[in-house]
Amino acid sequence: MARIVGGVTTSHIPAIGNAMTEGLENTPYWKRFFDGYEPVKRWLEDVKPDIALVVYNDHGLNFFLNNIPTFAIGCADRYDNADEGWGLKTLASFEGDAQFSWHIAESLVEQHFDIATCQEMLVDHGFVIPMALMWRHLPKWPVKVIPFAVNTVQHPIPTARRCYQLGKALRKAIDSYPEDLKVVIFGTGGMSHQLQGERAGLINVDYDLKTMESVISDPEWLARQTTSEIIENAGTEGVEIIMWLVMRGALDDQVKVVHKHYHTPISNTGAGVLVLQNAA
Ligand code: DHB
Ligand code: FE
Repeated sequence: MARIVGGVTTSHIPAIGNAMTEGLENTPYWKRFFDGYEPVKRWLEDVKPDIALVVYNDHGLNFFLNNIPTFAIGCADRYDNADEGWGLKTLASFEGDAQFSWHIAESLVEQHFDIATCQEMLVDHGFVIPMALMWRHLPKWPVKVIPFAVNTVQHPIPTARRCYQLGKALRKAIDSYPEDLKVVIFGTGGMSHQLQGERAGLINVDYDLKTMESVISDPEWLARQTTSEIIENAGTEGVEIIMWLVMRGALDDQVKVVHKHYHTPISNTGAGVLVLQNAA
């Protein structure tokens, strides 16, 4: 049977992509940030997942404001990356597992999550930056991927509670797939940031740190917050943090922390990374 080997949550700030392209990893601005990913890379080398289920938000590349599903799963055997306007280098395509995707889609619909299914899907920085952070040192991507897009861009967006429930449904979907596959689930986005308006530049370190602790040991704290409460604390784009709850929902109630790291600012954002495993 397929099983979840653990979960990773990480920010997906486009500036990280430019820093990698320019080889700035060891410069004073970037070093501490990139050092925070070394233990994650080691953990991934250790657990050797076959599949990365990547929960992220599209930022206008595959879905634009005129046409945004609340939840959408990629059901393709290949996903291409494109530059959606941040000047990012286009990375190699990703191999998918359409059969597994369709199983997840069927299971979610049975569990009353009526998602969109995409047999073609371009993946943007919300997906690609985390992949590059983990695996750019390898000659090719070592996992097959399943992209799962959550709308955090065009309101109304799903609630934190719904995202947490989605994670639990994804867990059931994965656990019921008969193939022996090791799955790592990613939740990307966050942490606090607001890129526009009067509060542009907002970073809320206290809230970010509380959020990290909540995702580890008290997901209810974040799950019960309304979208407005999250935006008030984390900023209009900081609401991307709801995707961390999808990852958390897919794990057991009790988890162990393999790694946690927080660094700010990166671009306009509080940058965090977590690796969690089921405690048992
Ligand atoms: C930034 C962060 C994001 O999550 C994003 O999607 C775009 C930009 C930033 O801080 O620059
Ligand atoms: Fe983003």
